[in-house]
Amino acid sequence: MKILTVIGARPQFIKAAAVSHTLQKSGMNEILLHTGQHFDAQMSQVFFDELKIPRPKYQLDINSLTHGAMTGRMLEAIEKVLLDEKPDALMVYGDTNSTLAGALAAAKLHIPVAHVEAGLRSFNRKMPEELNRIMTDHLSTVLFAPSEPAVELLKKEGVPALQIHNTGDVMLDAVYLFRPIALRQADLKLPNNYVLLTFHREENTADPNRIRSILGAINTVAAKHPVIFPVHPRTRKVMETAGIQLHANVQLLPPVGYLEMLQLEAKAGVVVTDSGGVQKEAYFNRVPCVTIRTETEWTELVETGWNTLVDPGDEKAISSQVESAFGRRGQDVTLFGDGHASEKIAKVLMGLK
Ligand code: UD1
Ligand code: UDP
Repeated sequence: MKILTVIGARPQFIKAAAVSHTLQKSGMNEILLHTGQHFDAQMSQVFFDELKIPRPKYQLDINSLTHGAMTGRMLEAIEKVLLDEKPDALMVYGDTNSTLAGALAAAKLHIPVAHVEAGLRSFNRKMPEELNRIMTDHLSTVLFAPSEPAVELLKKEGVPALQIHNTGDVMLDAVYLFRPIALRQADLKLPNNYVLLTFHREENTADPNRIRSILGAINTVAAKHPVIFPVHPRTRKVMETAGIQLHANVQLLPPVGYLEMLQLEAKAGVVVTDSGGVQKEAYFNRVPCVTIRTETEWTELVETGWNTLVDPGDEKAISSQVESAFGRRGQDVTLFGDGHASEKIAKVLMGLK
């Protein structure tokens, strides 16, 4: 069984770190293709090194372009690789431009597409990720859903039940696999009860007023609580252009490796984010989360009280939600599986041939 896996952005490296080892153990011949969408050492190489992800056979170096140009160039380059390698299936993760390019290239060549993290929706078509997910799900032959609501959504959209597999969330696999290693590592010197902040979404960074609202609120929070802020390169560029001044209690970091991030999440008082992955990891660490978005794909965490949504344009609402999140607890969520999603994925893929 030969499978070509397309990855390109930070969360995909982390998901692949959990799945690729299992595929290898199952005797599958997995070839990795890195589109190059994320390229800074701290956004890419650090994950390959610390999580021991196999080295990609193909490295495309396609990045920093508009959506159409990036996806189009990836599509053409991935098609060439598929024609050479003739894999039995192509696998993609999540909802980035790399995901859509891989799925479309394979579907057009009648190569089965396997989509990990299928069936998520924000119902906001202005998000580039929403378009990528809808299209990837409907190009896919095998859909690996992280939870039952995702399965139900796919069925409602007309995907045949036989193509959908509820495997649980591969990000839970990654946390189970790597958190013990992260927590064994030398302790970071961390303040008490700090806020961990990450954000990078186009909707939160394209408009400087939006970034001013978010960081204005963070400055208010920082007057009372330390804030640790590993900054995504997109966000850093906008902050520099907008000339934003931060409170001395806000500790800026370059993007951190996954092991460091797991430590930062595990010990935070509150997580503030617009990241999909970080919302769930906050819950996996039982840390309350404030999501600076008006909707989320992971609604179960909001329903159970672990996560609250706040309008990123409403500076006052952000600071008061963060303040009231300290100490908040929700109900347990059992929807994300048992941390063995990768094994279930491997079993289904083996059955494809
Ligand atoms: C992408 C995904 C998003 C995902 C995120 C994970 C799409 C449409 N978006 O958003 O779904 O949540 O990755 O982090 O695919 N940049 C650097 N260095 C890097 C990476 C990016 O400087 O290593 C810069 C790029 O030059 C670009 C900007 O950051 O100017 C945005 O990068 P891009 O990959 O287009 O989108 P992300 O915001 O990272
Ligand atoms: N992450 C990391 N270092 C950081 C910020 C995030 O390792 O500085 C990890 C985080 O733990 C999670 C993943 O990156 O596993 C989430 O990726 P990101 O927020 O970039 O994208 P999203 O999940 O929103 O698509």
